Amino acid sequence: MSISQPSQTMEHQPFFDVIQERRSVRSYNPEVKISREELVEILRQATLAPSAANLQPWRFLVIDTPELKQKLLPIAFNQQQVVEASAVVAVLGDLENIRMAEKIYGQAVEAGFMPADTAKSMVEHYTGMYSSMPPEAIRQIAYTDGGLVSMQLMLVARAKGYDTVPIGGYDKQKFMETFRISERYTSIMLIAIGKAAKPGHPTVRLAVDDVAFFNEMSKE
Ligand SMILES: Cc1cc2nc3c(=O)[nH]c(=O)nc-3n(C[C@H](O)[C@H](O)[C@H](O)COP(=O)(O)O)c2cc1C
Repeated sequence: MSISQPSQTMEHQPFFDVIQERRSVRSYNPEVKISREELVEILRQATLAPSAANLQPWRFLVIDTPELKQKLLPIAFNQQQVVEASAVVAVLGDLENIRMAEKIYGQAVEAGFMPADTAKSMVEHYTGMYSSMPPEAIRQIAYTDGGLVSMQLMLVARAKGYDTVPIGGYDKQKFMETFRISERYTSIMLIAIGKAAKPGHPTVRLAVDDVAFFNEMSKE
């Protein structure tokens, strides 16, 4: 499959091709725009990712204007992909996402997935739990769930014929200040998304033997 294949023909690309062919792409065709509708659809599918207690702490700031991408460039240490890509999705974690519990569990009731009294007791349970959790633990959950949604976003994008690169190399504090993001949120990563102008480099992986252990961790 070529990297420039149009998205329509790739909608039903086999899952294993998607995961084999995703690469971090650092050179994008700046002429390619992804429509708002398509970005929304990519985000919608990405948010099918799992999250702790289904509380979905991820938030996204989509940066897709040339001016704002230019503003982001020095913050991302001049990594050109942030200006060349169609958009940069800043993945944020909402450290107060427990506020959404009632809405989320209310939706589950409306959908007929859960009786109202079960939803009510779950909301009470999680609200109590979150109120007694150290802030660091809440931050950790936001990072874990933010990582899952980010991966899913990159795979959905690939399945639709787009390329991505996750970016951790940026000044988080400057980013938060420049884009006026409140401390309610934590910045998890940036994801550049667009059409590759040059394919990503092939990369290697450790053998499963190096990273997986059955029933007992290595003593080393
Ligand atoms: C959390 C995280 C941060 C990363 N930060 C950057 C970055 O700042 N710039 C960049 O070019 N690539 C970045 N990458 C991409 C990695 O270099 C890349 O995933 C890795 O080399 C494996 O290559 P592959 O994604 O093509 O398989 C990052 C990846 C992750 C997961």
